[in-house]
Amino acid sequence: MRAVELIQKKRDGAELTRDEIRSLIEGYLSERVPDYQMAAFLMAVYFRHMSERETYYLTEIMAKSGEFLDLSEIPGPKVDKHSTGGVGDKTTLVVGPLVASCGLPFAKLSGRALGHTGGTIDKLESIPGFRTALSREDFIKQVRSIGIAIAGQTGKIAPADKKIYALRDSTATVDEVSLIASSIMSKKLSIGSDAIVLDVKVGSGAFMKDLENAQKLAKLLVSIGKQHDRRTIALITDMDQPLGTMVGNSLEVLEAVRTLQGEGPEDFEELCVNLAGWMLVAGGLFESLEKAIEEVRKRVADGSAVEKFREMVKAQGGDTRVLDDPEAVLPISRKTEEIKASKAGRVVRIDAEKIGVASMVLGGGRSAKEDRIDHSVGVEVLKKRGERIEIGEPFARLYFSSKSDLERARYLVSSAYELGEETPEAVPIIREVIE
Ligand code: URA
Repeated sequence: MRAVELIQKKRDGAELTRDEIRSLIEGYLSERVPDYQMAAFLMAVYFRHMSERETYYLTEIMAKSGEFLDLSEIPGPKVDKHSTGGVGDKTTLVVGPLVASCGLPFAKLSGRALGHTGGTIDKLESIPGFRTALSREDFIKQVRSIGIAIAGQTGKIAPADKKIYALRDSTATVDEVSLIASSIMSKKLSIGSDAIVLDVKVGSGAFMKDLENAQKLAKLLVSIGKQHDRRTIALITDMDQPLGTMVGNSLEVLEAVRTLQGEGPEDFEELCVNLAGWMLVAGGLFESLEKAIEEVRKRVADGSAVEKFREMVKAQGGDTRVLDDPEAVLPISRKTEEIKASKAGRVVRIDAEKIGVASMVLGGGRSAKEDRIDHSVGVEVLKKRGERIEIGEPFARLYFSSKSDLERARYLVSSAYELGEETPEAVPIIREVIE
């Protein structure tokens, strides 16, 4: 099959067959189909979309392009989690220890930062000594012995998605529902979990900017999961302002530790206990979400959740003092600058994407895969939606280094804030649950 004919077929809005999609994807992986043809195909999909059937085929073909991580040696139910990506989204760092301390094994492969959204692996690497590259054997052994391991995803899981995702990132074709759904689910199906809990972000800091598209994505994700006999639950959650108050690698670890100690910001804490609660329900440990959440909260209150995090840090070679004195252990820049209000008002909107980009230009993210990141920089959001700011009052704090583009970060953070007179309508952190 000639790639050009398949590009043309999609460009003209027709539906591709399984064999046609396979021929393109396998051709791209074996370099018979060059980047420019795959880029043209992705752009055709961006404008013409894919049917559900095409999306199922694409997901399956990408999943089968790599290895399958068999978790059957780990006793008990295995529940995976995934977020579609946001700003200040450090949920895995908290949800993992929460569910593991409730007895649900947490075997998680995570990714790195790309674009304005952060990555769990970069965040964990802020902890001195923490190893994120674990062999399959060590990963399984650790989950069997302490109930939790978080490791970097190797190129062996869904390599077709890895290659295509990098191309999408540089050709403005990330935010298309069928491409996102197949990308996420190809990785999830490559891991032998029984159930999957998905955090589908909606709002200014998410790929899906409006509720309608987020619902479409959530339904498609759930339906792909079900097709493969995985119990799949999607929570559509608010990303119309940064999650919690910290954005940036070390800063987010600091906030995760505080949250596990019961001192986290309200929106972040609520999201984490709900995600953990749903994971316990999906794993069959509880029938009722309320009871599951009650148990999760008990594990925070009695200190067992934070101790679970300590066990993981120790097992993966990290400095466990991060739990006792995180500010002394984490590389958090001492160079800070507060951004102060030039007018008074109530925060009606915070463009989360701009805050994410600000953290990136300070050095905390990557604009290209090979960029090195600075774990010490980021943005602290001092005022959230609905809060009042007086003239001269600081509303954000920048943590920077000598390499930061401070000017641009200042501009991005200032322009992310929209002030008004009226108190904006409260938006719940969990907007909808799709089962
Ligand atoms: N996360 C993924 O893994 N893939 C996407 O396409 C978007 C978010």
